[in-house]
Amino acid sequence: MTASREHFSSKLGFILAAAGSAVGIGNIVGFPVNAAKNGGGAFLLMYAIFVVVICLPVMMAEMSVGRKTAKNPVGAYGALAGENSKWRLAGLLGIITPFMIAVFYTVLTIWILIYLVLTVGGQLDYLASADGFGEIINSPWLFVSMVGVGGLVAFILKAGVKDGIERAAKIMMPALFVMLVLLVIFVLTLDNAMAGVQFYIIPDLDKINPSVISGAMSQAFFSLSLGMGILVTYGSYISNKTDIAGSAKLVAICDTSVAFIAGLMVLPAIFALNPEVNPDDLSSSSVSMIFVYLPKIFLALQATTGYFIASSIAAIFFLLVFFAAITSLVSIIEVPVSYLIDEKCKTRKQALGSIFLWGGLIAALATLSFGMVDSLTNLTTYGGGNKGLFDVIYDMFYDTILPLNGLLICLFVSYRWKKHNLNKELSQGNEGFANTFLAKYVDFSLGTFIPFILAAIFINTV
Ligand code: PHE
Repeated sequence: MTASREHFSSKLGFILAAAGSAVGIGNIVGFPVNAAKNGGGAFLLMYAIFVVVICLPVMMAEMSVGRKTAKNPVGAYGALAGENSKWRLAGLLGIITPFMIAVFYTVLTIWILIYLVLTVGGQLDYLASADGFGEIINSPWLFVSMVGVGGLVAFILKAGVKDGIERAAKIMMPALFVMLVLLVIFVLTLDNAMAGVQFYIIPDLDKINPSVISGAMSQAFFSLSLGMGILVTYGSYISNKTDIAGSAKLVAICDTSVAFIAGLMVLPAIFALNPEVNPDDLSSSSVSMIFVYLPKIFLALQATTGYFIASSIAAIFFLLVFFAAITSLVSIIEVPVSYLIDEKCKTRKQALGSIFLWGGLIAALATLSFGMVDSLTNLTTYGGGNKGLFDVIYDMFYDTILPLNGLLICLFVSYRWKKHNLNKELSQGNEGFANTFLAKYVDFSLGTFIPFILAAIFINTV
């Protein structure tokens, strides 16, 4: 089957697809809010350090394992460690994780689509009203939206790697970037915007504490789509001519730049339109920021610019977030799809059928866990407070399992596959790689302090 495996058409196609995966809701909303609450420039600096020092080597390792084996995570662990090896279980976790993350990410994406449609329909007032969010997350329209999101993702994935994933990224990523830049320019021309820029960028070292540091680390890890099997899978679709280290650097730069630029849009908007707001008061979750707080900002904009401009700006914003979410969803759903194709000999169509059936079912249950069905809404009180199905999936997979997957891949590459094999793989498509500082750094860090840090985060969240 390896011989007929599809490939991205070029290095650029691969980079755009991987960047499409990395740039998501986390960049556009999560990063700015976390940065603002946790010390502005200081958070930014820490985040950038984690991206380079920890995430980049893990990213290169994931891509290398994928390309070497030309397989999904289960197949990849099996091919390198032996078909009966226990490492295949790590691969299995690398399939279950993206499947479950896709479930909660789908729920967010269907909310975003509803927000987009309502904004275009002139319902900004409703979105910003006290009951707006609570009503929307309990509305039957969610299921219509789910069909829309599922249909679009299935349409892209059905067309395959080059004509589906790559083509979608080639359209959506540049569009996303243009919309982002337009919005930043618009926001920066508002009165008082510079106060927001200052707040965002000037470091406040007093805010830095161990939990902020581990928050920056988790944010960076999630944002680069690590520990989800995505880069193993996308790596399995690149040729030996592609320079993995160079591509990984570009993906990291792209992802971090979008996160940073998004901050230049969100925080100055808060300061310009609602100067008495202290971002410390924003609710702790970035989810409520996007769904509860941002519509209020757009409404405030309406008072200054009038209905048409405010609604257009809001629509561009939600379209931007929607694009970011779709390219991420595509990447994460491709992981279990490629598993079914490689390991269970399904056709792409059959694989998509099963994943959308089961994934759709669990996503529907998660959608009902915000009040519509009581037993799903109050599933457990473990860890304090009532938690519904959505919260349980989120806590378990985002907080705990992601660093575990990262830890496993580091240990696997360093001690099972062995680092000389990794170096050999990284030198394909980049002949001089072995003599670079990065090569020496990856060689040293991947088996030593990176797994140590990931283990510490894992243990801490358990
Ligand atoms: N990098 C994405 C983000 O920041 C995370 C993600 C990737 C989530 C793929 C789901 C699927 O939002």
